[in-house]
Amino acid sequence: MDPLVLGIESTCDETGVALVQGTDLLVDVTASSMDEHARFGGIVPEVASRAHLEAFVPTLEEALSRAGKSLSDVDAIAVAAGPGLVGSLTVGNAAAKSLAVALGKPLHGVNHVIGHAAVDELVHGEFPEKVMALVVSGGHTSLLKIDDVATQVTELGHTLDDAAGEAFDKVGRLLELPYPGGPHIDRLAREGDPTAIPFPRALTAPKFQEKHAYDFSFSGLKTAVARWVERERDAGREIPINDVAASFADAVADVLVMKTLNACREHGIDTLVIGGGFSANSQLREMATRRGEEAGIDVRIPPIRYCTDNGAMIAALGSAVVRRGLAPSSLGYGVDSSMPLTRVVA
Ligand code: KG4
Ligand code: ZN
Repeated sequence: MDPLVLGIESTCDETGVALVQGTDLLVDVTASSMDEHARFGGIVPEVASRAHLEAFVPTLEEALSRAGKSLSDVDAIAVAAGPGLVGSLTVGNAAAKSLAVALGKPLHGVNHVIGHAAVDELVHGEFPEKVMALVVSGGHTSLLKIDDVATQVTELGHTLDDAAGEAFDKVGRLLELPYPGGPHIDRLAREGDPTAIPFPRALTAPKFQEKHAYDFSFSGLKTAVARWVERERDAGREIPINDVAASFADAVADVLVMKTLNACREHGIDTLVIGGGFSANSQLREMATRRGEEAGIDVRIPPIRYCTDNGAMIAALGSAVVRRGLAPSSLGYGVDSSMPLTRVVA
């Protein structure tokens, strides 16, 4: 029987608690403070930390009760040790360490971003020997080569400026859409023509092949959209908002998918996992699935509820770490707001 792993997530605005045994998810409960941030147009770290403090115990109790388990049934605890907001991380890690000490159970501090990939094992089964993972959200855009999700992860590239979701939110703001703008742009884009406006594809020219083949940049694209909209407004023309959204979304998805599939080809990898809150994006899902199929690559995208921040992703990675027999984290470790992606565990 595989060990029962309790997973705790608190890197940003979601308090997540889940129980995983092997690759079976028993329960996953999430409390979000997003509504408290919406009026500020972005996450307020202090508000998020306080919300974690209030939500942790009720979320834990609900998870245990829904699974019909008690804390004494738990064999190991996993918590996201970084990257993330330092205040939010501190609350979750203090809770996890307290539980570990009180229960006398091993604690594993794990990497949140790698958790976004690991959660797919709960949905589509254990990873094959080599996997490529694209993790895209409001906070991260990273391309990972995974030889073993618990022990060997290499970051091939990342965004040099804005994350994909962040770029959507910023364009949403300039199109005067509610925060977060990402899902609104997605919806408008479905009604528009993706070829209407030729927005730039950053870092795709041959001269970037050597240094930035797998890096991304979305801030120039955001500026290009702003300039285009400004010009049209100045000329007194009505903004074709659906076409702007569709052309912008197409530019983002095109670069993400093109670079990711190139990396799969170069490294001889035929399984691609896409995770993180931005993988809810329809343009990305459609393009990755279609082009992946054409390239003979198995594209695995978990259902959206596992792509946004949650406890299941942390329990999934914790379970992989425990199954490999890795030593627990020492309780003296500190949270790491910029935990490198080469480190799976704290
Ligand atoms: O992972 P997540 O829930 O939170 C972070 O860790 O950032 O990701 C949320 C991000 C936000 O920027 C949101 O606007 C974006 O993902 N997003 C979308 C869609 N759904 C969420 N962007 C475009 N299309 C969507 N359907
Ligand atoms: Zn995340």
